[in-house]
Amino acid sequence: MFGSKLPFTPLELLSFFYLLTSTGTILGHEVRKVVEDGSDVIKVEQDSDVILPCSLSNQQDITAAVFDWKKVAPRGQRQEEVFFYDSGIHYNNGRTGQSQQFRGRVSYFEDELKHGNASIIITNTKMADSGNYSCAFPLLQTPQTFYIELVVEFFFKDRSGGSSGAAPEPFIRTLDASEDWSLLQCEVRGASPLPAVEWQDGGGNRLPAEEPQVSQRGGSYDITLNITVKKTERYRCVVEQEDIKHRVAAETFVHIGETVCGDWIGWLAGFVLGGSVVLAVLALRVLMKRIIIRRKLSRRRQRNDLEYMEKYLDDKPTSSCGDPSGWLRESADES
Ligand SMILES: *[C@@H]1O[C@H](CO)[C@@H](O)[C@H](O)[C@H]1NC(C)=O
Ligand SMILES: *[C@@H]1O[C@H](CO)[C@@H](O)[C@H](O)[C@H]1NC(C)=O
Ligand SMILES: *[C@@H]1O[C@H](CO)[C@@H](O)[C@H](O)[C@H]1NC(C)=O
Repeated sequence: MFGSKLPFTPLELLSFFYLLTSTGTILGHEVRKVVEDGSDVIKVEQDSDVILPCSLSNQQDITAAVFDWKKVAPRGQRQEEVFFYDSGIHYNNGRTGQSQQFRGRVSYFEDELKHGNASIIITNTKMADSGNYSCAFPLLQTPQTFYIELVVEFFFKDRSGGSSGAAPEPFIRTLDASEDWSLLQCEVRGASPLPAVEWQDGGGNRLPAEEPQVSQRGGSYDITLNITVKKTERYRCVVEQEDIKHRVAAETFVHIGETVCGDWIGWLAGFVLGGSVVLAVLALRVLMKRIIIRRKLSRRRQRNDLEYMEKYLDDKPTSSCGDPSGWLRESADES
């Protein structure tokens, strides 16, 4: 109806859109919206490798196409050139223009191009790589752009092997115990910088403990933290050094008010134990019988009294906890 009155055709609008996204930050707002809606966020740890996915849904061969990866600039900053591919010519084989930040760290998957897969891998990720990325196919019949957010983090993890001041695994001991409680102590030795130490229950919730006792020796810290616990549960002592993102923990299982058949686990254990005793007695009886019969048989055989054996086996009465598997008969036949 009024299509003819529009100042631009849809194709012109699309080209205009691409021009804007590829030249500046004007469309930063739109970009953010797309990422929000797609909720495509990839989280990785610093110094790792990450694949940023980007694929055409129709899987068309893009070996001879153009695809362009950019890191979308936050408002007011320059956008970074991450990877550009044009029919086999790209940043890693002669094409210039890649941002310094990404030089030598980005590659694509050659064998995947024929399936429309323009994913890239960024190696040795840095915190500064965090941000929103766009992957554009500007010269397709219908130009397309995809967005993905990358978050590079410095996770808490056990770094005992790495930095020298990283706290070693804490040591847990039971200082005292009664029927209703246990007094546990967590000890950390030789940590620097000063770590935070806390007790957690099995669900990872922080538990109120006593004041930690801190002593310093030769520039590093020893810490002990007592806690009185009143529930049968798994307890963890967690040590964290924020500055170096180091976390290490030890855990222990505490039984409170333990009696042999006090809870259902006790009952179950008793039941299983009782059952195995009965079974053992039965097995022993069967074994004894076998031995006795073998002896009788060999004694008889010496006298060549085969008739006796046959008679014995035929007449053998089935006892109440007898020989259900028929071992008796088989072993008698063998010998
Ligand atoms: C990327 O986009 C999301 C969604 O709008 C936004 O919340 C986030 O701050 C952006 N990240 C960066 C580093 O600009
Ligand atoms: C694209 O290729 C990458 C690298 O081989 C792979 O991880 C990813 O799953 C592929 N994507 C699709 C949609 O096949
Ligand atoms: C922990 O408890 C023991 C025994 O009651 C006590 O000697 C020690 O001082 C306590 N340690 C701390 C850090 O409170």
